[in-house]
Amino acid sequence: MSALQNKKRHLIVLSNPRSPITEAYRSLRTNIDFSSVDERTQVIMVTSTGPEEGKSTVVANLAVTYAQGERKVLLIDADMRKPTVHRTFQLTNKMGLSSILSRQCNLEEVIQESEVPNLYVMTAGPIPPNPAEMLNSKRMTNLMQLLREQFDMILIDTPPVLAVTDAQLLASNSDGVLMVINSGKVKKDVALKAKENLLRVNARILGVVLNNVKRKTSEEYYYYYYGN
Ligand SMILES: Nc1ncnc2c1ncn2[C@@H]1O[C@H](COP(=O)(O)OP(=O)(O)OP(=O)(O)O)[C@@H](O)[C@H]1O
Ligand SMILES: [Mg+2]
Repeated sequence: MSALQNKKRHLIVLSNPRSPITEAYRSLRTNIDFSSVDERTQVIMVTSTGPEEGKSTVVANLAVTYAQGERKVLLIDADMRKPTVHRTFQLTNKMGLSSILSRQCNLEEVIQESEVPNLYVMTAGPIPPNPAEMLNSKRMTNLMQLLREQFDMILIDTPPVLAVTDAQLLASNSDGVLMVINSGKVKKDVALKAKENLLRVNARILGVVLNNVKRKTSEEYYYYYYGN
């Protein structure tokens, strides 16, 4: 593993509570709460059209933001193909989602405390040969039902929609989907295709986080657009 892959992910909401980006995460949380007047939004998955658009960055920062709002939060790394959450929070990945789905351990063993109060983490676990089959299992549905009873909010990191079916499968156990779009990289028709794939499995798309929006100053920052 390269030095870069081992490197801890820098979480701006922790390091810089007053930055505009941190403020954007707080507004995102508020807007998600406001969108949930009639429908329950307890389980949110974060995905994207393609790879490396910022899913893991957004879901980790959002999980911390929810935890800071005094809610008991679980972040699940359901990207069993390119897991990174353990690295972000410097936790062990010896056991995780793949271990519990393959009956190699029990639930208490895969829920780790993070350094952030109220934030718990289920890492991805060892990379399995059949992630989609695992996510599609009855055991996964049962696991999510159990976790809903134990946590106020559950956030899920996933692989990209257009690469594999995992995100579509996870949508059936989620109350809402946040799409992260690298605005400089992703073409509109490709983003629409990803949206279609999610709507086909009846996913409720909460909104889109536009990442990498270039400003006049050429500084990179997050901007989110909220709506249908
Ligand atoms: N707004 C940003 N400004 C600068 N760097 C960013 C930004 N968003 C993400 N990155 C960086 O881009 C890389 C990819 O981001 P991230 O790992 O969050 O994407 P991902 O969608 O989870 O990727 P994957 O498909 O591999 O899971 C990381 O090195 C991350 O630190
Ligand atoms: Mg990722």
